[in-house]
Parts: sequence; C-alpha cells; structure tokens
Amino acid sequence: MNKACLPGLLDHYQSGWSLEQPFYTSTEVFEAEWKHIWRKYWLFAGTVADIPKPGDFFTYKVHTDSIIIIRGNNGEVFAHYNTCRHRGSLICLEEAGHAAKLICPYHQWVFDKDGRLLKARLMPDDFDKATHSLHPVKVEVVEGFIFISLNDNPPDFAAVAKDYASFLKPYQLQSSKVAFKKRYELRTNWKLVAENFRECYHCGPAHPEYCSAVIGANLREPVEEVLTERRVAWKGKGLATDNIDFTADSFHFAVRYPLRPGVSSYSLDGKPVAKPMGQHQDYDAGVLGLVVYPNFWMDAVSDYMWTMRLTAVSPSCTIIDLTWLVDNNAVEGIDYETSRLTEFWKITGEQDWELCENNFSGIESSHYQPGPYAPVELDVAKFVDWYIARMREATVCTHF
Ligand code: FES
Ligand SMILES: [Fe+2]
Repeated sequence: MNKACLPGLLDHYQSGWSLEQPFYTSTEVFEAEWKHIWRKYWLFAGTVADIPKPGDFFTYKVHTDSIIIIRGNNGEVFAHYNTCRHRGSLICLEEAGHAAKLICPYHQWVFDKDGRLLKARLMPDDFDKATHSLHPVKVEVVEGFIFISLNDNPPDFAAVAKDYASFLKPYQLQSSKVAFKKRYELRTNWKLVAENFRECYHCGPAHPEYCSAVIGANLREPVEEVLTERRVAWKGKGLATDNIDFTADSFHFAVRYPLRPGVSSYSLDGKPVAKPMGQHQDYDAGVLGLVVYPNFWMDAVSDYMWTMRLTAVSPSCTIIDLTWLVDNNAVEGIDYETSRLTEFWKITGEQDWELCENNFSGIESSHYQPGPYAPVELDVAKFVDWYIARMREATVCTHF
C-alpha cells in the first residue's frame, strides 16, 4: 500500500460490504489502528480474580508496550508502563507473579506497587526520586473487570461502568476464582475475529454444540416467545434485562438471551458444570453477553463466566486469551471438573478460530473482493461502520 492509500480506501468504503484487502493485510493500516483505536480506547486487561492479593501482578504486552497490572495494599488496582525510570529495562519479566515491591532486575531500583520510586542505589544525595515514578496507565475497574487505556484522554468510561454494574453484580466477580486459562495464537486479522463474533449466520453449520444450547442460534427457530417469558422470570429475580444497544458513538453493549428450555448451562449435555456463581441461586439466568471494542468479549451463564481478551499482534496475527471464572467457593473435583467446565467453549472457540484463519487466508487471495453482508449480519456491518468511522476520524489530520 503506498502512502496515500488509507484515505483513498476509506473513501471507497461501502457500508454493508466487507472491507477491502489492505484493511486486513496492510502493516500501515495495522499501525494506524494501533494509533487511533487500540491506543485510544479502553482495553480489557484481566480481572481482579487474576490478582486476588496485594502484590499479585500480571503483565500485558500490547503493541510495543508491556503493562504491569498490580494489586495495591488496599485492594486497589494500579497499572504502570513496564519500563524502568533508570535506563528503561523491563521490570516484571514474567506474565504473572507476586511482588511486595517492584525491583528492576538490571540495577535494582525499587518501586512501590503504586509506582513510586522507593530506592535508587548509589545515586547522588540530591537525586529526586519523586520525579522518577513509573509512568502510570489509566485504569478502570468495573465490577472486577480491569480495563486500561494507553491514552491520556481516553473516551469517557462512565457509561460502560454504569451500564455494566447492574448486569455484573449478581456474578460477584470481585470474589470469583480463575478456574482455567488458555491462549491461542491465530493466523488471522483481529477484525475477522470481531466480525465472526458479531453474527450467527455461521452458527447453524459451524456450531452444532452452541446451537444445541442456545435457542435461535441456528436462525431457524423463533425466540420471541421464550425470550419474553424468560425476561419476566429474570426481572422477578432482580436480574438486569434491558439490553444496552451498540450505537455509532459508543464502544460497548450488553445483551441477555435465553438458553434452550431445559438447558442450564453452556455445556455439552445442557447440565450445570459448576455451582451457581455469586448471588445466583439457580441455573436460570440465561446468557449474559458483554462486548467492549476493540478487545473484550464475555459470556456468562449462571454457573461460570468466560472472558475473551483479543490482542492484535500484526495484520496476520491475533492472540486470544480465554479465562474461565467460577464462584470463589467452588472446589475443583467437587463443585466442578475443569475438563467439563471448559469443553463447550474450547470446542466452540476452536471452530471459530478455524473459520477466522480460513477467512484471512481467503482474503489474501489475488482475487478477493469485498462481498455483501446478509441481513442477519447487520451487527457485523455496524462494527465495520464503527471501525471505519474511527479510522476516518484518525485521518482527518494525519497523512499516510
Ligand atoms: S534499568 Fe532499571 S535499575 Fe537500571
Ligand atoms: Fe462462531
């Protein structure tokens, strides 16, 4: 792609049609996305269940940055750029660990959990430690979900926090437990994963297990009657049911939808796979789905929660980090078996990963051209419209 191409590509974009090839394959587009979407919006990093105790931390590699997310002494969550204020070394080398203090491995400068520089060996007496704290990263924690932004002035997060609080409260994520994690490195573009998760056009042929669990996923069954009846029941239990719609200038949404009658959980046999999570007393909460663009997907059933963190590594590489969360008091071997807890989404997810990789390989063809979305792919079109609008904002004063 030559340097004048991105504005031209954006001019050519036709809403309702898939994107032109360079949007999926070009390094220049990819770098523009990082600058104007990934480094501007809020990124899901993990949950407080990943760092239950003060000093617990994990690192998240995003583009050229590594970010340290660490639990403070009073339960607060701090995020810092993982670059020492001495000569820039990485401080935390592991993806997860525990540290009473953050000690740089190079010359042993010592930082507190909140990022303040505590000790700098052999530096002159007049060295000002106060001006050498770790660079902070913006953090928002909503009901236990940790979001970070690499932007000094990110979009307002208040609407996400407000909208999600009532949906998430019954799951008591703050006191939940990580049951399992799994990482996939896919040969595909991140937007193809986002697109795949916005339509069920493929669900009938591709996801027999998912269609067995979710009424209407095959697009051949009416769901209104069941949905109306379930909504009354959910409301009666105090569960949030007013879906949050995705709009052109928002970046999140929420939806609750029913499992097939007689199905209690996302499981291969429809039976529960763990004890009810948090405040849930039974298995009738249906499915709660949350999305925050560009990198967070979550589904929760009454007995477990499944989060997906998507990380764009290059135009052709996307890392997917999956986490299964259960009630804090659920005991493995008694209240759940990890293999049964995870098999439904391992199977369903791997079906999707294959579709996303095949989609990318086909788009690399010399004869790929944008194709029309089906009416049932409206949400894909909305996501792609949102993406194009963000990229257009970016190119107003940027030259490629
Ligand atoms: S680079 Fe960290 S102490 Fe020197
Ligand atoms: Fe799928």
